[in-house]
Amino acid sequence: MSRKGIILAGGAGTRLHPLTMVTSKQLLPVYDKPMIYYPLSALMLAGISDILIITTPQDQAAFKHLLGTGRQWNVKFDYAEQPEPNGIAQAFVIAADFLRSEPSCLILGDNILYGHGLPDALHRAGARDRGATIFSYWVDDPQRYGVIEFNPNDEVLSIEEKPQNPKSNWAAIGVYFYDEEVTDLVKQLAPSARGELEITDLNVLYMRKRQLKVERLGRGFAWFDAGTHDSLLEAGEFVRVLQHRQGQLVCAPDEIAFHNGWISAAELKELAAKAGKTQYARRLLDNLR
Ligand code: G1P
Repeated sequence: MSRKGIILAGGAGTRLHPLTMVTSKQLLPVYDKPMIYYPLSALMLAGISDILIITTPQDQAAFKHLLGTGRQWNVKFDYAEQPEPNGIAQAFVIAADFLRSEPSCLILGDNILYGHGLPDALHRAGARDRGATIFSYWVDDPQRYGVIEFNPNDEVLSIEEKPQNPKSNWAAIGVYFYDEEVTDLVKQLAPSARGELEITDLNVLYMRKRQLKVERLGRGFAWFDAGTHDSLLEAGEFVRVLQHRQGQLVCAPDEIAFHNGWISAAELKELAAKAGKTQYARRLLDNLR
């Protein structure tokens, strides 16, 4: 079994207009890197190297230009199109041929995750071969998200998409691990009131089968979805402050590929040379000291 990754980087990005009038949201800068580097890093930290990148038709060329085949990091990228923003779960309709009955991890192209122990949490989820694992994070504004209600025994009682009266502050993060049944289960979904195949409905199907596991990420973690002007700026500022304080990069695929043993020191040096006279390049080279 080898788990495959999917990054969903489609969508019209209307909540970020006019920033996203001529470019994809997931290519906007989060401090020193394009946004998609962050979810890509999460997949790579989970040890996933076979990845489908789903974009709008008009933006696909730019993503290919940025990321290429993945050879530079010894990963493999495939590309697919989502012509209309018909919902997150549609990723599994689009990815059916790519997944070919393998388990998967879907991450949303605007989700930024950071925290000590994150690789462990991702590996734990990746190691489960039955059912689904999703992640949850306490937020102040749960009505913006999928909201998870737990009973005192930590079992999931309900998940609701953007409820007006949230039953808890536990938001469902945009990282989802599924077993190979997901491409069949997604066929049971019908579009919601807003016309989308909802990821929350897919998770509810797993919940009803008693095959939904939720990992709660505690207060030592940071999770941002850079989907609004404020959250985009906040995420960038978070990355800037951490990198400045520690002198270490947050979510640099070049560095993760090196730490995973996927590229050599010589290859990392070449990548740093391509990054020019930047702080990013210097910090990549710090890994070789
Ligand atoms: C989507 C999901 C929601 C989840 C969120 C995480 O919302 O529908 O359940 O909590 O991503 O970023 P959207 O970004 O489409 O509003």
